[in-house]
Amino acid sequence: MQRTPLCERLGIEVPIFGFSHSIDVAVALAEAGGFPVFGAAREAPDKISEDIALIKKRLRGKPFGVDLMYPKLAGEESSRDEAKKKLPAEHVAFVAALKAKYSIPDPVKPNFFADQIRNQAFFDAQTRAVLESEVSAVVTAVGLPKDVVQAAKARGKTTFALVGSARHVKAAKEAGVDILVAQGYDAGGHTGLVGTYTLVPQVVEASGGLPVLAAGGVGHGRQIAAAFGLGAQGVWLGTAWLATREYGTPPALLRKLLAARSEDTVITRAHSGKPCRVVKSSWSDEWDAEGAPKPLPMPYQHVLTGELLAAIEEHQVEPLVYEAAGQSVAWFNELTTVAAIVERLKTETRAALDEMKRNLKEEA
Ligand SMILES: Cc1cc2nc3c(=O)[nH]c(=O)nc-3n(C[C@H](O)[C@H](O)[C@H](O)COP(=O)(O)O)c2cc1C
Repeated sequence: MQRTPLCERLGIEVPIFGFSHSIDVAVALAEAGGFPVFGAAREAPDKISEDIALIKKRLRGKPFGVDLMYPKLAGEESSRDEAKKKLPAEHVAFVAALKAKYSIPDPVKPNFFADQIRNQAFFDAQTRAVLESEVSAVVTAVGLPKDVVQAAKARGKTTFALVGSARHVKAAKEAGVDILVAQGYDAGGHTGLVGTYTLVPQVVEASGGLPVLAAGGVGHGRQIAAAFGLGAQGVWLGTAWLATREYGTPPALLRKLLAARSEDTVITRAHSGKPCRVVKSSWSDEWDAEGAPKPLPMPYQHVLTGELLAAIEEHQVEPLVYEAAGQSVAWFNELTTVAAIVERLKTETRAALDEMKRNLKEEA
């Protein structure tokens, strides 16, 4: 696998960066030579401190990052109960009808979507937990708060920012971000409108020399070779890890992900209220259907649907289960391990680079 200057700088062996909510995935990726980023946006602040301490211990000195989201919100209620008072009756009735239609029992286990509300106090507490931890890198997504970037840097942490458009690069540079993650339309999760192949070179051109990672749709080594050609120093993957033993994806969701092709993902506001690419399911279909209400803006969509989403996940209600997933999902159709994915990507990248060299020589 080709190493890039960023590998030296961060002390990693391969320029493969992995976003995951799973500690086991993070540890396995670090062991395979990549750079793990633990997704903490769905975690309560206390749990974040605990999880980071655990990852730190298991990684025995290897670097890793933590990712937080900073979306602009439509409202600032201090509790879910308070926010519930604002939910339109039509929406409440729609969700109750879905619960009845699919015979969904109540959730029993704790779940982020059922228990938390996103507001500024919540983001501040999450940020404090991350800044006070021993994590080596802090990643910001969806929004880019300069004070968080500056505070992370003051504590000696490397800072990454996800950007979905070349016009976001200026703000990232002004905030002092160290590494840009150009996350294109193909990506799983909250995404912008510009495809990865178009976005990466635009971000590289605007970056003024900051290292750039290509994110969104990456599932094959050919794309890693292409990402180097586009000017990226590495790739950033999210969907890949959902198909690993380490992630422990629940059975009904796993079946759906393994069977999915690129066209089986869809961008919907029905998850969080903001555009988010997910694997298609009856959840996205029901919200897309004629007569369905328009999803509510963040944070109200989760206030409305949180308990039902938690129940769907807990009881694995097959037609409705879904997860954020990118167009890369097509490359992950069997349950495997993080190490096997990294190994495959390395082999494919090497082969693609050799093929490029051969083809270009023949052309010359
Ligand atoms: C299940 C899942 C959850 C995600 N949640 C977040 C998140 O909380 N914060 C974030 O910055 N990115 C999140 N992402 C996006 C990833 O960081 C990454 O940009 C994306 O997965 C890349 O595209 P790919 O899925 O095709 O590999 C998520 C992606 C997936 C698949």
